[in-house]
Amino acid sequence: MKTHTLLMPLDMHLHLRDGVMLETVAPLTAYSFSGAIIMPNLVPPVDTLEAVKSYKQRVMAAVPNDYFEPYMTLFYKNYDKAFLESVVDEITSIKLYPAGITTNSEGGVSSFDIEEMRPTLEAMSELNIPLSVHGETDGFVMDREAEFMSIYELLAKNFPNLKIIMEHITTKAAVDMLDKYDNLYATITVHHLLLTLDDVIGGMMMPHHFCKPIAKRPEDLDALLSIALEAHPKVMFGSDSAPHPQHKKETSGCAAGVFTAPIALQLLCEIFEQYDKLDNLQAFVSDNAQSIYGICPEFKEVTLEKRTFVVPQNYGSVVPMYAGQAIAWAIESVD
Ligand code: DOR
Ligand code: ZN
Repeated sequence: MKTHTLLMPLDMHLHLRDGVMLETVAPLTAYSFSGAIIMPNLVPPVDTLEAVKSYKQRVMAAVPNDYFEPYMTLFYKNYDKAFLESVVDEITSIKLYPAGITTNSEGGVSSFDIEEMRPTLEAMSELNIPLSVHGETDGFVMDREAEFMSIYELLAKNFPNLKIIMEHITTKAAVDMLDKYDNLYATITVHHLLLTLDDVIGGMMMPHHFCKPIAKRPEDLDALLSIALEAHPKVMFGSDSAPHPQHKKETSGCAAGVFTAPIALQLLCEIFEQYDKLDNLQAFVSDNAQSIYGICPEFKEVTLEKRTFVVPQNYGSVVPMYAGQAIAWAIESVD
């Protein structure tokens, strides 16, 4: 049987939530990933040293063993340098949300006035803290990411020593931006390597494919595939796996988020094999992230096997992407 082994897979963009949801989803990621960047959009957001430390403890308590590293993040505000110095050893990145753009982002940035942000972003550059950005404007939903490119340019030019990660990119515009500035990087989800808007609303409306940023056009999907399959060195896998309970997805007023954590590596194997690029998957799911973030994850060896895996209907209260459908690859062993 055909197998493929991945060393130290990393998920560079993950939502774990808190409480019962955290206990449901954290073990699923900890099983097959060595580590993950943990998003700070809790209610209230993770925006103090105490909040980072206690959230990390709750994450560690929710995973069944020590072979998983939660790389913690702070919710961006215009922090001063003294505060950033106090928190630098506890975090891997700071996550910036435009105010109100997605789930629990109300306390985000409402003005991209560079001078207002300068003290914080200069301090982050000096302390080598990356800035992870949800790059969408409040424009028309299909144009929000492309419209944000001018803000990425402004940030990249004004803060050349700041590592800026364009999170969960979905457009050719973002792909084209990547090589324009040395300090721009990107994460890509697995669902954005599979879906276009047609898969969300082209037929029956599919709430479990609905997320922010929304899946775009076929040419955008092609552009994302081209850099992911080549494992472009400035690109990393970040699932943006975002669990919501079934009653918040299958309802009028569906919450944004696709839950992929337990099926991500299987789907990635399927995609990379389909394009005969399995040899590049290791860089996409781990090596690139290690170089970009300068991290050394816990050892983990995950072997996948080419056999049918039927995605469970639910994990606790959460319905995963492709529930009940077959994937061509399954996880065989984790050491
Ligand atoms: O679809 C999304 N869900 N996009 C985000 O940016 C946030 C996430 C969530 O937290 O549910
Ligand atoms: Zn996210």
